[in-house]
Amino acid sequence: MGTSTSSTAQGTEMATGKRFKIACIGAGNVGASVAQYCAEMELGDIVLTDIVEGLPHGKALDLTEAGPIRGYGSIVTGTNDYADIAGSDVVVVTAGLPRKPGMSRLDLLSRNGEIIAGLSAEIAKHAPDSVVIMVTNPLDVMTYTAFKKLGFPPNRVVGMAGCLDSARMRAFVAMELGVSMKNVDTMVLGSHGDDMVPLPGYTTVSGIPITALLPQDRIDAIVERTRKGGGEIVALLKSGSAYYAPGASAARMARSVLRNENQLLPCSAYLTGQYDLEDLYLGVPVRLGRDGVQEIVELAIGDDAYAALHHSADEVRTGIDELRKLGLL
Ligand code: NAI
Ligand code: 2OP
Repeated sequence: MGTSTSSTAQGTEMATGKRFKIACIGAGNVGASVAQYCAEMELGDIVLTDIVEGLPHGKALDLTEAGPIRGYGSIVTGTNDYADIAGSDVVVVTAGLPRKPGMSRLDLLSRNGEIIAGLSAEIAKHAPDSVVIMVTNPLDVMTYTAFKKLGFPPNRVVGMAGCLDSARMRAFVAMELGVSMKNVDTMVLGSHGDDMVPLPGYTTVSGIPITALLPQDRIDAIVERTRKGGGEIVALLKSGSAYYAPGASAARMARSVLRNENQLLPCSAYLTGQYDLEDLYLGVPVRLGRDGVQEIVELAIGDDAYAALHHSADEVRTGIDELRKLGLL
């Protein structure tokens, strides 16, 4: 072996010889899936971090042992020490609790708010130049919390939800029409939850609007299924929530950042007047590149979607206000 690695995978080794570093904070179901998809794409070396002793180490070793079979050369390590995320280019945060039976929405908000506030200080200390991709729920409020606690510019803090929600809608449209999922494109804006705003008007199959392919009642059913997509998986799994599609969505965002792909994706971004909304994180179309959110795209969305987006924003603001009252913001 020479002094430099031999991998030719785009992103793992750039012209500068730099190997990217991706930190996954939280080595649970979603965190491990993010690590797996990032390794499969050879985006860089991966550090799995968790508070549970042995968990990140075990998953990292398991992923490393899959490398020879899957043909990737990413180095995957596990740690309980935040110092090991030093120098990360991208940090994906999945740490936190899922909502458990008997736990109120406010309990979840405060418990995860505390976790995100605590680990944001660690990220700011050890990976001050990173782009942070938030996944922990409630997504838009947790992304806002991280933004406030990290002290990073808003473009370097972004939330994953729209990628997942629009992937679900793409899958449902493809299933309904019996066409390839690759042919379907769509946009889902707003908050991550029942108040999200799927946009049938921006949903196409090979460029053909779905309004030309499906009757309104089937479109309405797909919109409703998309809104309830997370709950549908929870009901089937019975314990825990989705992780393959969420992991793939966060990894796709990490790839767009690390490879400066400038993909136009729906992401939770900090608004400063776009869509007549400000000082909150909400799902909007963004151009995602090396600096994180390079641009927020303002679409003409019509009166109904505009009202739905503002309703969605009100829900997020309620969560932010609750965290303020708890002294967490
Ligand atoms: P999980 O329970 O499998 O994993 C969470 C992990 O976080 C656990 O291993 C736990 O030990 C760890 N953790 C807790 N506090 C920590 C800390 N301070 N530092 C490091 N690690 C810590 O849960 P799962 O399924 O991976 O989900 C993670 C989060 O992502 C949940 O909040 C879930 O609701 C959310 N989620 C969000 C989605 C989205 O679209 N934004 C989609 C799917 C899940
Ligand atoms: C999901 O949408 C639970 O937010 C998670 O699957």
